[in-house]
Amino acid sequence: MSGPVTVRAPAKINLHLGVGAPREDGFHPLDTVYQALQLTDDVSVSAAAGLRTSLAAADHVDATSVPLGTDNIVARAAALLAARLGREPHTALHIRKQIPVAGGMAGGSADAAAALRALDRLWGADLPEADLLELAAELGSDVPFALVGGTARGRGRGELVEPVDDPATWWWVVVPSTTGLSTPAVYRHFDVLLPEAPAEPASAEPLLTAIATGDPTRLADALFNDLQAPAVDLRPELGELIARGEAEGALRGLVSGSGPTCLFLCADEAAAEATAAALRGAGHGVVLTTTGPAAGAHVVAP
Ligand code: C5P
Repeated sequence: MSGPVTVRAPAKINLHLGVGAPREDGFHPLDTVYQALQLTDDVSVSAAAGLRTSLAAADHVDATSVPLGTDNIVARAAALLAARLGREPHTALHIRKQIPVAGGMAGGSADAAAALRALDRLWGADLPEADLLELAAELGSDVPFALVGGTARGRGRGELVEPVDDPATWWWVVVPSTTGLSTPAVYRHFDVLLPEAPAEPASAEPLLTAIATGDPTRLADALFNDLQAPAVDLRPELGELIARGEAEGALRGLVSGSGPTCLFLCADEAAAEATAAALRGAGHGVVLTTTGPAAGAHVVAP
């Protein structure tokens, strides 16, 4: 097949992010609950003479901070899958980006997952899902979740995912920041603020109980993020943004993953639109409304 094959993959948020003391390999043990959002990137792949990447970004995405060429995670995904299949990684990868960059929403991980699934199809490999999940984990801790999507519990360093039943539709307001925050820097600051962090991360069980009720008020009360304190300490304005969104009618605001994107859970669509309008009125240039859960990386064409 010469392509193109196009795969769509979702942004993720963490409804619960419990972080333990760093392991010997430097990674932090997690007990997390991911949710995929209806905010997606598309990756198209076609046959080419070499390995090439290109990007088209939505207006709200800072395209200048996305590395192109072999540094991009989609190129690394292509090289990894090609090595696994014993073939050349020759392909042209085109990313259509809507997920904020370096925002704590795993946009790069979504692209990597999309590239794996698209190239698996283009190259006719048809690997078992377990093999794709293993390759995904090599590319990053939250790449496996981008393949699975929906709502899922993540353990290990986040790469061991187990789907969670979540039939409700949850309304979110998403406020990206114009400048990204480095994930390793936020984890390092967690270690500085909490030098005596317990080895075991805070359990996701209360969050799972709340999600099973389908009640946004219960979910709002259960939302939890151990990386919020370090992210807000590095960027105090995030604390102000969260307070503002809650004052404007959101049930609860929180930092998304390692930030700096902030999320607001709302009771329903009308409340989400009202909160978004108020935050735009307060000068936030980019405010998106969306829902979760959404599907994991899936082929949309052909
Ligand atoms: O796995 P990923 O490449 O996304 O991780 C990026 C960085 O985030 C790691 O190099 C590490 O500094 C930090 N991290 C961590 N513990 C995790 C996941 C990520 O310390 N569970």
